[in-house]
Amino acid sequence: MKKEYSKYFAPSLINARKRMNKNIENRIFHIPDELIGLGNNLKYHIKTYGCQGNLSDSEKIAGILEMLGFRFANNVTEADLILFNTCAIRENAEERVFGELGRIKSLKKTNPNLILGVCGCMPQEEKTVETIKKKHPQVDIVFGTHNIYKLPEYLSDAFLKREKVVEVYSNEGSIIEEMPVKREHSCKAWVDIMYGCDEFCTYCIVPYTRGRERSRQPEDILREVETLVDEGYAEITLLGQNVNAYGKDLNCEYKFADLLNDLSKTKIKRIRFTTSHPKDLDDETIQVMARRGNIMPHLHLPVQSGSNTILKKMNRKYTKEEYLEKINKLRKAIPDISLTTDIIVGFPGETEEDFKETLDLVTKAGFEGAYTFIFSPREGTPASKYEDNITSEVKKERLLILNKLINDGFAAGNKRFEGKIVDVLVEGTSDKKEDIMTGYTIHNKLVNFPGDLELVGKIVKVKIEKAYTWHLKGKLIES
Ligand code: SAH
Ligand code: SF4
Ligand code: F3S
Repeated sequence: MKKEYSKYFAPSLINARKRMNKNIENRIFHIPDELIGLGNNLKYHIKTYGCQGNLSDSEKIAGILEMLGFRFANNVTEADLILFNTCAIRENAEERVFGELGRIKSLKKTNPNLILGVCGCMPQEEKTVETIKKKHPQVDIVFGTHNIYKLPEYLSDAFLKREKVVEVYSNEGSIIEEMPVKREHSCKAWVDIMYGCDEFCTYCIVPYTRGRERSRQPEDILREVETLVDEGYAEITLLGQNVNAYGKDLNCEYKFADLLNDLSKTKIKRIRFTTSHPKDLDDETIQVMARRGNIMPHLHLPVQSGSNTILKKMNRKYTKEEYLEKINKLRKAIPDISLTTDIIVGFPGETEEDFKETLDLVTKAGFEGAYTFIFSPREGTPASKYEDNITSEVKKERLLILNKLINDGFAAGNKRFEGKIVDVLVEGTSDKKEDIMTGYTIHNKLVNFPGDLELVGKIVKVKIEKAYTWHLKGKLIES
């Protein structure tokens, strides 16, 4: 018989909000010798939801698992361990995970030794842990965003002692260096430059699930990028919830622009970064970007709303006018830059006028793509308590109207490359056809063209023959 829980440490969103300890602990990852080999002859499968931060974490989790001896299972039915790395940003993201957890339960009947785990942002919420306890007893391991490094210990509890574990910390978090990473792609890589978020936009759960804003040491980031260059990677994407705040916690003068500048001197061919916060994107960063070279002329700059009233209620700390001014500066410095954004519609109290301000901003900004969302109240955040008198029909209608405008921008952004020759970093074959290769341009445009697998990892020249809304089609000119 399984014991109830060998470890039980539940989260607290109230504690997660606190920012008390100034000293963020830095530690080096280590697996106890006796646990190496724990996963020999066992297979794992990870399901990842949410942002690039989670994709990057899943690569670290896979790295740890492979170090323990586990091997990757293509299919959940072959797996001895299934981990759900979850996202709490909107309700529908959470519902998908619970739906999938329910479906996967039956696998335990065919494989009684199967271990199920839930990690990532959802377990950082009290209510998720309660729901798992009550409705999903098939889950063996629950841990959060702060203790991935303890996975070997939890797996030893689950596989060797057949014990269940719930352990979620609601603290500021630490920085763990030298975690093993099993990267998904062979030519492009995520590089975390900082963790957490201190912005507390009133709708957002991330500052609660990811802890305090904390930056990695520049030399650790540089070393990682140098290693990636040596391993043959062509592209890196620097990750953080607000990369423009990089270094603020390091108590030195070194800022994001300095990091970008130092990284641009390495031999990496392409540098991208996400996500930028409009209030912290500074002139120095724009200047470093404008020097071109290996920093890509694409910027994802979430605006969230075009109404100053709503922006204030969201705690975004900029106005519509300031946002547009920042875009002007960017376009002056980098005339061909491609801009994308995130927008929320139906924020509590959003009037027709407010929504029109958003449409107006979209028209003026000339975005070439956007992720658009209907506001989803997140328990524990201030906005979840704001009076919300907009019907869901109105919200859906606003999303449709906005999406139409955004799609026009997407198509226009692609159209400007028709007839042009562009550089494409080839990532692999297109989903549907084996002889069609796919990759991205410097402006982050998706290109499909006939070619073969030998091109993967190379930057090739492609002549664009036709622009569609979501991608470009072309032919190989030079490899
Ligand atoms: N740190 C990034 C990304 C945050 S999450 C940033 O600051 O932009 C990605 C996007 O999800 C956000 O930009 C926002 O548009 C959306 N989002 C966050 N919380 C949300 C909520 N409660 N309801 C709907 N959309 C939300
Ligand atoms: Fe959330 Fe705002 Fe932080 Fe982005 S900047 S993660 S939207 S709190
Ligand atoms: Fe989701 Fe957590 Fe990222 S809530 S968006 S996975 S930081």
